[in-house]
Amino acid sequence: MKFTVKSEHPASVKTGCVILGVFERRKLSEPANRFDKTTRGLLARLLADGDMDGKSGQTLLVHHPHGAKCERVLLVGCGKAADFNKRVFGQAVASATLAVNASGASDAVSYLAELEVKGSDQYHCIRAHVELTQSALYKPDELKSKKDHASRPLRRMAVNVAKNDMNIAHTAVADGHAIAGGVELARSLGDLPANICTPSHLAKTARDLATTSTRLKASVLDEPAMKKLGMGALLSVSRGSEEPAKLISLEYSGGNKGGKPVVLVGKGVTFDSGGISIKPSAAMDEMKYDMCGAASVLGTLKACSEMALPINVVGVIPATENLPDGLASKPGDIVTSMSGQTIEVLNTDAEGRLILCDALTWSEKFNPAVVIDIATLTGACVIALGSHAAGLLSNDDKLAGALLAAGEAAGDRAWQMPLWEDYQPQLDSNFADMANIGGREAGTITAACFLSRFTTKYHWAHLDIAGVAWKGGKEKGATGRPVSLLTQFLLDRAGGR
Ligand code: BES
Ligand code: MN
Ligand code: ZN
Repeated sequence: MKFTVKSEHPASVKTGCVILGVFERRKLSEPANRFDKTTRGLLARLLADGDMDGKSGQTLLVHHPHGAKCERVLLVGCGKAADFNKRVFGQAVASATLAVNASGASDAVSYLAELEVKGSDQYHCIRAHVELTQSALYKPDELKSKKDHASRPLRRMAVNVAKNDMNIAHTAVADGHAIAGGVELARSLGDLPANICTPSHLAKTARDLATTSTRLKASVLDEPAMKKLGMGALLSVSRGSEEPAKLISLEYSGGNKGGKPVVLVGKGVTFDSGGISIKPSAAMDEMKYDMCGAASVLGTLKACSEMALPINVVGVIPATENLPDGLASKPGDIVTSMSGQTIEVLNTDAEGRLILCDALTWSEKFNPAVVIDIATLTGACVIALGSHAAGLLSNDDKLAGALLAAGEAAGDRAWQMPLWEDYQPQLDSNFADMANIGGREAGTITAACFLSRFTTKYHWAHLDIAGVAWKGGKEKGATGRPVSLLTQFLLDRAGGR
């Protein structure tokens, strides 16, 4: 998809389709009014005839509007003008994109970003438009022998803005395009099945990314190297599988040499069967998504590199399968982590924290400014927050605040939970320094408590993305979250726009 910026009258722009907003009930938006002045009230008549009343998500396609230069005009419902916020804006952009894509128009000019969106500014509106348009057209059909694409798909989209906003619009479109590319990478990796998206495949993806820029460098540790480093917790998970584990690092050097990096650690369990504490078989296929933290790290680094952000970022990905092979960990086994702390593995399905703890210790070597781990860590987080917000826990309130704000600005929200000492005793073990599970209560918090014992040397935050990384059911598929949040966070650290 190609995106551009325009500043033209909607009736005189030559395009396959002009996209205009309509508010409830039957109110033309300002750009639609501008259009209608030249088309002698064509749109107003359509609304008066009852063809459309402006409900969010509605669309109406009109061909060859008399008096205008476009081949089609698409009216898009935007709901009540007073309630037009980021969420409704997103719905309008997504339904407009799908309708244009199905219309036969190969290019379009959208006037939706000119509308005032509650709680957002011009830059974020335009950027979100680009992200949402690209996202709406994503199809996980890499492995289908016959693609079900539109016969004449949408190829070019221009976002129209006021003359004064042209500069900021160019930046927003470029950023939106970079982030959309990162989101798309995260989604396609997530949607790949576990027999293809193995730890080695993730490593290859990191290496391939590194060839796209001199500022990116990938390195991969194999199991013997991890053994030498004493990563007994990580290796205890991969022992249950034939597929070799990998510890992937992808360094982006956009900032000063020696400048402390932001380290992003992504959980890369390419399939989580639960191991000997095996999961029930219903919906177990969805555990191919247990590497979405890793995918979001790769997507974020791709976006960073394309935006040429003037900061240093390191992606660290512990990648493994969790399977019940003959050598698999057994409940009650005690393993020694790289930090020297011992762990009683009471449940082999709490494997994410076992691979993360060694990756977090390993991350010390990068002398990080902050470390953020991203993981599909607990089913409890899905129960607590559903699919709308990622869980956020941190040992540093300033860092937590910055992540919450970034999520809010990017439309990719997180919600903070407490990391109080009170919860720590739930991890007590009679036989080791700690157990790997903390019982039924507060599962998301005790998982973070576990990780907090390996992050005492730096500022750290944990994003539990179990509820937001993918959708189940009929719309099954990866979302690419939280690439948008993370990229916004890095953009803010780099000085913002
Ligand atoms: N990958 C899962 C978490 C998960 C489950 C994410 C369902 C999304 C949907 C993780 O490895 C896991 O199995 N966690 C256990 C922890 C428990 C054994 C303490 C869980 O949440 O049940
Ligand atoms: Mn598990
Ligand atoms: Zn898991």
